[in-house]
Amino acid sequence: MTTRPHRLGVLTSGGDAPGMNACLRAIVRTAIYHNLEVIGFQRGYRGVLLGDYQALDARSVTNIIQRGGTILGSARAPEMHHPEGLKQAASTLKGLGIDALLVIGGNGSMQGALALADYWQGQLIGLPGTIDNDLGGTDWTIGFFTALDTALDAVDRLRDTADAFDRIFLLEVMGRHAGWIALFTGIGGGAEEILIPEQPYDSAALSARIKEYRARNKRSVIVVVAEGACDGGVAQVAADIEGHGFETRTCVLGHIQRGGSPVALDRYLATELGVFAVQAALEGATLVLAGKLGQTNQLVPLREALADGKHRPPTQLLEINRFLAI
Ligand code: F6P
Repeated sequence: MTTRPHRLGVLTSGGDAPGMNACLRAIVRTAIYHNLEVIGFQRGYRGVLLGDYQALDARSVTNIIQRGGTILGSARAPEMHHPEGLKQAASTLKGLGIDALLVIGGNGSMQGALALADYWQGQLIGLPGTIDNDLGGTDWTIGFFTALDTALDAVDRLRDTADAFDRIFLLEVMGRHAGWIALFTGIGGGAEEILIPEQPYDSAALSARIKEYRARNKRSVIVVVAEGACDGGVAQVAADIEGHGFETRTCVLGHIQRGGSPVALDRYLATELGVFAVQAALEGATLVLAGKLGQTNQLVPLREALADGKHRPPTQLLEINRFLAI
C-alpha cells in the first residue's frame, strides 16, 4: 500500500516543445485541485541540481496554455549521466520533501529519470515532450504537431518560389535521430523526395529520380531532408545532386520548428496527459511514461518506452510517396 503523495515536483527538460506550458498548466491545476503542493524546477534537471525552484499555484500558470517554449525554462544536464550529479539531484529532492517528480521531455530526459531512480526513492513519472516524436510508449509526443505545421508552412512557401524559378529545393527539418518530422512534412506538403535516418541514403537513385521528374516536366522539386538523414546532412545531399548537373537551393529551418503557439492537437494532448500523470501519481505509479496509445491514455514502464527502435516512423509512407510524386 503506497502513501498518497503530498508534494509534487515538475520540470521541463531537453529540447523545448510547443505544448510544454499547456502540460505544466494541466499538472499544476490538477495537483492543486487534489490538495497537492507543486514545486517547479528551473531549467530542467539543472534546477534540481542547483536547488533552483519555485512554488507554483493555480495562478502561476495563468495565460500560458497558448504560449510556446516553457515558463520553467529547459536545459540539457550532462551531470545526470554521472553518479555525483544523480546523488546531488536526489539530495535536493529529499531535502525539499518531494514525493513525486514529473518530468516533461524526450529520450534524454526519460533516461535521466530512470537513472535517478537508483538514488532516489520517490515516484518518477515521465510525460512525452519533444517535437521529434521519437519516444516509445506513446503514439504522439507533445510539440510534434506544431513543429509539423511550421515545417509544412515552409514547404508551401518554398513551393511558390521553386515553381516560379523551376528550381530544386532542399528543406532540412529537425530530427537528428528520427525521421518523423521529415516524413509527415513531406507527405503533407507533397514533396517529391523525403530523406530520413531510418532509410539508407542512396544518392545515385535520388539523382536518377530527379532526372525523371525533370523529364516529366515537373516545374519544381522539393526534397525534405531530416537532419540525421545521412553523413554530411543536407549539404552533402545538395552536393550530390549538383554533382549530377542540377542546380539546387537549400533552406535550413532549424529552431523555428521548436517555437510558436501550440496547435490544437498539442494543447489537447498536453492537457490530457498532464491530468493523467497527476492522477497516476496519486495512485502511486512510478517509473512510467504517461502516454497516448490509440485513443487511450496509458502508463508504460519507462524502460520499455526507451527500448531501442520502439517507435520508428511508418517508412512505408516513403513507398507511397513514390507514386504520389510522379
Ligand atoms: O528537440 C529535439 C531536437 O530538436 C532535435 O531534432 C535537434 O537535433 C536538437 O533538438 C537540437 O537541439 P539543441 O540545439 O537544443 O541541442
